[in-house]
Amino acid sequence: MKLAERVNRIKPSPTFAAAAKAATMRAKGIEVISLAQGEPDFDTPENIKEAAYKAIREGITKYTPAAGFPDLKDAIIQKFKNDNGLTYDRSQVFASAGAKLIIYNLAQALFGAGDEVIIPAPYWVSYTDIVLLMDATPVVIPTSEKQGFKISVDQLKLAITSRTKAIIINSPCNPTGATYTADELKALAEILLQKKILIIADDIYEKFVYDGTVFTSIASLGKEIQDQTVVVNGVSKTYSMTGWRIGYAAGSAEIIAAMDKIQTQNVSNPVSFCQKAAVEALLGPQDSVQKMIAEFDRRRRYIVDRLNAMEMIRCSMPKGAFYAFPNVTGLFGKKWGEKQISNSSDVTDFLLEDAKVAVVAGSGFGDDNYVRFAYANSMKNIEKGMDQIQEALKKLK
Ligand SMILES: Cc1ncc(COP(=O)(O)O)c(C=O)c1O
Repeated sequence: MKLAERVNRIKPSPTFAAAAKAATMRAKGIEVISLAQGEPDFDTPENIKEAAYKAIREGITKYTPAAGFPDLKDAIIQKFKNDNGLTYDRSQVFASAGAKLIIYNLAQALFGAGDEVIIPAPYWVSYTDIVLLMDATPVVIPTSEKQGFKISVDQLKLAITSRTKAIIINSPCNPTGATYTADELKALAEILLQKKILIIADDIYEKFVYDGTVFTSIASLGKEIQDQTVVVNGVSKTYSMTGWRIGYAAGSAEIIAAMDKIQTQNVSNPVSFCQKAAVEALLGPQDSVQKMIAEFDRRRRYIVDRLNAMEMIRCSMPKGAFYAFPNVTGLFGKKWGEKQISNSSDVTDFLLEDAKVAVVAGSGFGDDNYVRFAYANSMKNIEKGMDQIQEALKKLK
C-alpha cells in the first residue's frame, strides 16, 4: 500500500517510542526504570475519580456537545479567571481529548501550505510534526543553555517573515523547564502584536514552577495580547490525569468556532464522564496539586545534583515543568563495548541497554546535545536509576 506522503514527513512521538522500548524490555523480563514519559506517577486524586464514577452511574455516557458540556466550559472560564486573571465567555473556550488534540485542531484550523510557524527550540516533540502534518513549515529558533533556553527579541525579529502565521510559546518548557518572566514575555509580545502574529501559549506546566519562580500567562499581559493569543492547557499534568484525555483552550470566538467545527469531524467530543471529572479537578480542592509540586521539587533537586556529580554530564537547575535536561556531549566519542557514542540517541541506547534506564534523546526536542529525564517516577526508582547510570558510565572508554 502506498501511504500518504504526509506520513513520511513525520516521526512517531519520541517519548512514546522510548516508553515502548522500555516496555518491550520489561516484557522480556528485564527490569527497566523509565524516566521517559512526561506522566506524573501519582494517582489521580480520589475526588476526581469519584466525580467520574458518579457521572457514569448517572448515565453520562453519551455524546456531548463537541466543545464540551456547558459546565465544563464554565469551569474552564472560572479557572482562567482565578489563576490567570483572564476573562472569557463560553464562545471562547473549548475542550478536547487532551492538549495534544487541542493543538492539532488548532493547527488544522489555522495552518496550511506556505504558512510558517515559529517554534523556539528545545521544543515539545509534537509541535514541529503537527505543523508539518498541516503542510505548513516550522521555523525553529534555536536557543542555548547560556541564554536559559529562551529566545531573545532579536532572534524573534530575525525569524519573522511575511509568511509567519503564529508562534508557539511553551513556558514552563518541556523539556528544558525554561520559564519566561512577565517582562520577557512583554518584550516578545510587543513585536508579535506589531506583526499581527498569533500567539499559541502552551501553559500546560503552569503549576510546576520552583525556587520562587512566578508563572505568567502571556495572554494576561493586556487585552490586545489576550485577543491575539490562544491559550492551551489541560488537566493531564496538573491533576495526574494523562489517561483521561482532557485538554482545553481559550481564544477568539472565531478560532474556537473553527476548532469546534473540526472537532465535529474528528473525535466528536471529549469523553463524557471525563469531562465531569475535569470539572471537579478544576473547581474542587487543590491540595493534591501542592503536594505533587512539593514532591517534584524534592526530586528535581536530587536528580540534578546526582547528574552533576557524574563525570561527563552537566545539568542546569530547571525552573519549571518536571524534567531535567542535562548536556551529554561529555559522552560523545566514548566507546561502549564495540559501539561508539556520537549523538543523543546513542546516549539513550547506552543508558537503556546498559544502565536499564529509559530516557528520551534530545534530538526529538531539537537539540542533540542533551537528553531528557522525566522525574515523574518515585524517589526510590530515581535513586536506583541514578546509581545504575553511575555504574554504567564507569564502563565507557
Ligand atoms: C508541552 C506539552 N504540551 C502538550 C502536551 C499534551 O498533553 P495532553 O496529555 O493534555 O495531550 C504535553 C504532554 O506531554 C506537553 O508536554
